[in-house]
Amino acid sequence: MAVPSPPVRSYEEYEAIFAEVEAPFAFVDLDAMGANAAEMLGRAAGKPIRVASKSLRCRALLERVLRSDERFQGLMTFTLPETLWLAEQGFENLLLAYPTTDVGALSELALRSVANPGGAPIVMVDCAEHLDAIESVLGAGAAPVRVCIDLDAGWWALGGRAKIGPKRSPVHSVEQAVALAREIERRPQIELAALMAYEGQIAGVGDQPPGRRLRGAAIRFMQRRSAAELAERRAAVVAAVRELAELEIVNGGGTGSLELTGAEDAVTELTAGSGFYAPALFDHYSRFSLAPAAGFALPVVRKPAASVATALGGGYLASGSGDPARLPAPWLPTGLQLDAEEGAGEVQTPLLGAAASSLSVGDRVYLRHAKAGELCERFDLLHLVEGDEIVDAVPTYRGEGLTFL
Ligand SMILES: Cc1ncc(COP(=O)(O)O)c(C=O)c1O
Repeated sequence: MAVPSPPVRSYEEYEAIFAEVEAPFAFVDLDAMGANAAEMLGRAAGKPIRVASKSLRCRALLERVLRSDERFQGLMTFTLPETLWLAEQGFENLLLAYPTTDVGALSELALRSVANPGGAPIVMVDCAEHLDAIESVLGAGAAPVRVCIDLDAGWWALGGRAKIGPKRSPVHSVEQAVALAREIERRPQIELAALMAYEGQIAGVGDQPPGRRLRGAAIRFMQRRSAAELAERRAAVVAAVRELAELEIVNGGGTGSLELTGAEDAVTELTAGSGFYAPALFDHYSRFSLAPAAGFALPVVRKPAASVATALGGGYLASGSGDPARLPAPWLPTGLQLDAEEGAGEVQTPLLGAAASSLSVGDRVYLRHAKAGELCERFDLLHLVEGDEIVDAVPTYRGEGLTFL
């Protein structure tokens, strides 16, 4: 499939499009999002892509992505209440990627599993306690609840003294995965349906950090070694677990690793979420480039000096390590930067740089979030742009009155 070239809209074009909209507001450029979707499918080696709901947090856009291509299949969800709500809204093929201890929601899942044994959401487990929590809500007549083993995809360097990757599942080796699969087998009301291994140290870490060439080289070395180690271990784990259970799904990867994870035979499907909006942290990968597709606009409300434009709001920091890359990125007009002392503020954000001098009170500035879905926790609505107009305004999860995390 030919990947459409993403639109590169200027400040003046967005200003014309949003002339009637009062800032602050958030928006998604559907043309850019469509180009990003095609780019990701192009890297996925023909495998289906499960869509990470946490990175979109907007029901209308989840529907739109799933409708846009048959290779977008199912959702990777982030809490059990969210998963159950999505199931109620008619979404199918749901895989909850993070373990839950929410016994009330598990009881609801058990009811869903009776009503739809093969189609109820699959939940994540990595230890016996997760299985105990599920079993605790199941009555004698319950249908099996389907679970997915979370395999740690981290890279253990220096003989295990350095463990690189997200600190999530304790299940790392073939033996540990088989032991958990056996533990599941012993419990007749729990069915092992899937295995997931998410290599966050590859998928979620840009290998071209700006201004840090040595660090970039170290990241590329780590990612090459980690990908090679994981391909072997993941294949061995999948083969061993398949001796005990029929795995419907072997899930892996994220926006930043589609072409690497997709090349592994053991993997049946990939996941991507962030790449649809392409937030600022995804600007720094050598293997692909995406088009900025989501942003927010703030009004300039004061000019403390001729060279400074101070905008209302803007302190929408991304979760994670707390480094400056988690701050929002000034986008348009080009040539703006955050103030090193103040960063992005709770109620005001001073903007410096060449473009700040040309901004007046009443003008607007455009910024991008460092991560994807978290933008939606700040705004009720996303204005949707296509061509040179606003074609719709759709509620975020927050706009539907829902805050899952
Ligand atoms: C389990 C899992 N899979 C995949 C992803 C990739 O998501 P994205 O494409 O939004 O980076 C994540 C993100 O954190 C994740 O936790």
